[in-house]
Amino acid sequence: MANLLKTKPLDTILAESEETGVHTLRRSLGATNLVTLGIGAIIGTGIFVLTGQVAAEYSGPGVVFTFIVAAICCVFAGLCYAEFAAMIPVAGSAYTYGYATLGEIFAWIIGWDLVLEYAFGAATVCSGWSGYVLSLGQDFGLRLPPSLAGVPGSTFVVWHGHWELLNTALKDKLVMAGTDPMSLPQQHGVFNLVAFLGIMFATTVLIIGIKESANFNSFIVVVKVAVLLVFIAVGGYTLSIHPELLKANWHPFVPPNLGHFGDFGWSGVARGAAVIFFAYIGFDAVSTAAQESKNPKRDMPIGILGSLALCTVLYILVGFVLTGLVNYRHLGVPDSLAVGMDATGFRWGSLLVKVGALGGLTSTMIVMLLGQSRVFFSMSRDGLLPEMFSKVHPRFRTPWISSLTVGIVVAVFASTIPLDKLGEMTSIGTLLAFIIVSAGVWVLRKRSPEIPRPFRAPWMPVTPILGIGFALLMMCSLPLATWIRLVVWLIVGLVIYFFYGRSHSRVQRDLAPVPPN
Ligand code: ALA
Repeated sequence: MANLLKTKPLDTILAESEETGVHTLRRSLGATNLVTLGIGAIIGTGIFVLTGQVAAEYSGPGVVFTFIVAAICCVFAGLCYAEFAAMIPVAGSAYTYGYATLGEIFAWIIGWDLVLEYAFGAATVCSGWSGYVLSLGQDFGLRLPPSLAGVPGSTFVVWHGHWELLNTALKDKLVMAGTDPMSLPQQHGVFNLVAFLGIMFATTVLIIGIKESANFNSFIVVVKVAVLLVFIAVGGYTLSIHPELLKANWHPFVPPNLGHFGDFGWSGVARGAAVIFFAYIGFDAVSTAAQESKNPKRDMPIGILGSLALCTVLYILVGFVLTGLVNYRHLGVPDSLAVGMDATGFRWGSLLVKVGALGGLTSTMIVMLLGQSRVFFSMSRDGLLPEMFSKVHPRFRTPWISSLTVGIVVAVFASTIPLDKLGEMTSIGTLLAFIIVSAGVWVLRKRSPEIPRPFRAPWMPVTPILGIGFALLMMCSLPLATWIRLVVWLIVGLVIYFFYGRSHSRVQRDLAPVPPN
């Protein structure tokens, strides 16, 4: 009978991470690469799409507070991730930390749960990305058929000469303009081919090489951060010469509650924080690159916490500027930053924002896919998944079968499941991982206090307790249907574990050495 709580000895994990040769991952990333990897994963749909929607629906200019609250939630989990990633610098991230501390069954659950964060996360972002491709293509006169840019069940209408996704925000806008959406020319989504191709492109970059992926990612990160900085600079300048805008748009800064929980007021800030949390997802993906980092003991905490800190500052500034430029009531649109740019009168501003968003989302997709393939790589090396997932390409030195399989599955998700459902699954999966990682750090401090920790999360055990508490609070704000899907997902995972993983586990076979490939 297998021992479901068997842990994988830390010595073994560390020895595996030190292995070298053509069948191992290439250690080529420095601290800057890791910070850009983090920013690459973090800045995406959240800031470009959700900021305006949260301001319009929940918090008004208080969206700035939602960014602060969500960042505080992430920082506790971030500190725990940093401690683990520096101490156990392997590709499996939370999965391996769980294996070392809580036991195999928990490790499996985390690994399976991380699919929600990384695979569903990549699919969510790609779904938003395809919307930008459609919109930007139309700006340049390229008429893609919307039926091939939407998931089954979605509807597109022609509005102001462009095909636009008929979402709640557009419906509200049309109703306010006295237009019946059904009276406009329509097309229904059949298969989001644009999203499918987007994921396959990102997968190709990943297979070609980690250094190439990181360099490509760094280039895009520079573009998207530059776009946000231009937005802050141009918007800030406009506000400095038109202070009357601030008077009109920032009063009251947190609009009074309208009678229901979450409908503005401080409860609106709380609910908004749970939604805007999506904007921070990704800093932990840095930890999946630990086995490809040159000096993980020093650089992992820098990558995780540095990217989180930089993005928090950028987000807060964008929140201030956007809600100063445009009244929050007018921000319930998918491209709120472009609307903010239009308000400054900067001629190419809105185009610039769209290009930044497109690039931004591309790098988020790449880093999420990277995270997923590395987690499968680790699970496969431990025998919990078939061996092919840990095959490293002899030339590219990347886990190419893992990347390709993940890419195909994610591409199918992105082209067939609606964005909001994907996004909710991503959030709940990430929050569950935060809880397990925070608990794991605490357990390991108690169980093995002697292990050298190049980075120590401060204020033990307050940090993991707050990490767990905040994550639980945010999970509670997600719909019941999302919880049910999470439970179903975990049950499917457990079935796979009991039919395959348990009997193939290397740890269960007492770490019998595996012959080289
Ligand atoms: N944080 C990432 C985004 O906002 C997932 O797209």
